[in-house]
Amino acid sequence: MPELLLLNGPNLRLLGRRQPDIYGTDTLADIEGAVSAEIARAGWKLAACQSDSEADLIRLVEDHYECVGAIINPAALMINGWGLRDALANFPRPWIEVHLSNVWARESFRHGSVISPLASGVIVGLGALGYVLAARALTEVAG
Ligand code: DQA
Repeated sequence: MPELLLLNGPNLRLLGRRQPDIYGTDTLADIEGAVSAEIARAGWKLAACQSDSEADLIRLVEDHYECVGAIINPAALMINGWGLRDALANFPRPWIEVHLSNVWARESFRHGSVISPLASGVIVGLGALGYVLAARALTEVAG
């Protein structure tokens, strides 16, 4: 069965309890469940991973190069995650960068991403729905 990678970076393990006014009340498990349900319609299954460590995230990307696509929330690594960026440069399938919050409406240090120029698409500011929409888009373009 085709597999989609869902990768969440630093500080996203506590979603639901982390600044819910900014990131919403959905937990990471809620998001993983919603993405799983979305891609099940295309006959895909989910490989969901989260790590606070860039080294682990790089290894997870490398270990999932056979996936049909990926959804990545690099969290703060968007700013300077050059190693993660280089791992994603070698990801052979379409992938979408997602941020729960509208990073453009926040502090200026969040206004640049070393990841975005490589992504097939970027979704910001739509909360947990952004992940589901990214999954839907990938089933269209990568299916
Ligand atoms: C985030 C936005 C980042 O700026 C921040 O460092 C995060 C979460 C988001 O999903 O809105 O940890 O990626």
